[in-house]
Amino acid sequence: MNMEIFINFTYIISCMLFAFGLKMLGSPVTARKGNFISMSGMLLAVVVTLLSNHIITFQWIILGMVIGASAGAFTAYRAAMTQMPETIALLHGFGGLASLLVDWSAYHNHPTANLMISIPTFLSVVIGGVTFTGSCVAWGKLSERLPGKSIKFPGMQFVNIAILISLVVGGFIFISDPINNYPIFLAIMAVSFIFGIFLVIPIGGADMPVVISVLNSYSGLVACTTGFVINNTVLIVVGALVGANGIILSIIMCKAMNRSLTNVLFGGFAPTVKAKSDGEKKEAKSMSLEDAYLVLEAAKSVVIVPGYGLAVAQAQHAVRELSELLEKNGCEVRFAIHPVAGRMPGHMNVLLAESNIPYDQLVEMEAINPTFDTVDVAIVIGANDVVNPAARHDKASPIYGMPIIDVDKARTVFVLKRSMATGFAGVENELFYYENTSMIFGDAKQTLQGLIAEFKASAAA
Ligand code: TAP
Repeated sequence: MNMEIFINFTYIISCMLFAFGLKMLGSPVTARKGNFISMSGMLLAVVVTLLSNHIITFQWIILGMVIGASAGAFTAYRAAMTQMPETIALLHGFGGLASLLVDWSAYHNHPTANLMISIPTFLSVVIGGVTFTGSCVAWGKLSERLPGKSIKFPGMQFVNIAILISLVVGGFIFISDPINNYPIFLAIMAVSFIFGIFLVIPIGGADMPVVISVLNSYSGLVACTTGFVINNTVLIVVGALVGANGIILSIIMCKAMNRSLTNVLFGGFAPTVKAKSDGEKKEAKSMSLEDAYLVLEAAKSVVIVPGYGLAVAQAQHAVRELSELLEKNGCEVRFAIHPVAGRMPGHMNVLLAESNIPYDQLVEMEAINPTFDTVDVAIVIGANDVVNPAARHDKASPIYGMPIIDVDKARTVFVLKRSMATGFAGVENELFYYENTSMIFGDAKQTLQGLIAEFKASAAA
């Protein structure tokens, strides 16, 4: 077998591993294996690419790998679970930047008038530049290094249109004569960096997870165009997979929030809404652990609704222990999963899988909602927006139309959180004032541990 056939054959195997791996990410049962299979595909692709390029000296490659791997490992090691979205934003940004640099160096070393190279080079620089700075802004907003609210200035739309026109005009000039237009190439790169910032700063923090998913798609597209520039098949296939994947995920997230992608990217999101003041001061009831235990002890059916606060409190192991005690007591326990609970897609699935909660206990929102009138107790743990009934009827609410988990239809609702503070959308939750709702204030983990202690004490008595 000659070398070229061997390389292409190995690339096909890598692509198959990526496709299988991606498919397996669709279920929590197979996700871990899927990740491993995709990683093996990537390792194979990297090794074969290094073999294929007749590399004379490996010193720069090794240096790059050491620096990149150390920075990646250090960042991932330090990132807490709740910092995952911003970490992912940064990874996408660097993916976009890496592709841009590869295209720049290819153009710098071998400028060519071949349209099959100059068009993807132009696209890579624009998409790579936007992905890099856009992801940096998303990282800044999520990590609260930048203000989370929408930042706009007068005439911003005109500036953006002017930038877009200048990119199109610059692109035409560059593509028509790439060899003599190095300064135009550099100008396109600089403008693309600025464009990435201007595209993301007007978007509010609450929409950042969707933005990250869109930027994920861009980082795939730029890898794809880079594949055309350097004639690498596996990069084209993987880039296309990531591009399609990111955009599908963005649409799923938008649907779960009842928003359109255009509205998220260009419409802005009211970041904080003052509590609706209807004159009378509403009072929420709070309940002691002892009383809550008595209600739970008598319950036959319990639904647990995890949210972002469960991740903050790192209460996933405590919640498993409580669910086991409830089951031992003859109660049916299910976990209701809202598609945008937490701060990233699948956040709750990952968290609950960490504590080995059986997958068959996790029930999607659509499946669990019709069953709430037979539920004795719904325990809302660190969730807020995803259980706010205002989403069903309050047209003035920014979350109006977002499908929610119908906990208010259960016989009793316990809400475990530290205060009456709002969730990520910044809206007051009317559920807290409902007749059948009782607040159990405190850190979720401590509250759950308190309930566990009550169960154990009564078993020992
Ligand atoms: P949120 O509405 O953000 O509410 C989380 C609640 O957790 C807060 O109200 C907070 O109240 C409580 N909390 C924080 N730390 C806690 C602790 N240690 N112990 C107990 N409670 C704690 O969360 P959610 O219901 O999961 O909703 C997710 C939000 O993110 C939605 O608005 C959704 O649209 C948005 N979003 C998510 C995604 C994805 S992909 N997940 C994508 C886009 C947007 P206290 O401070 O009073 O404790």
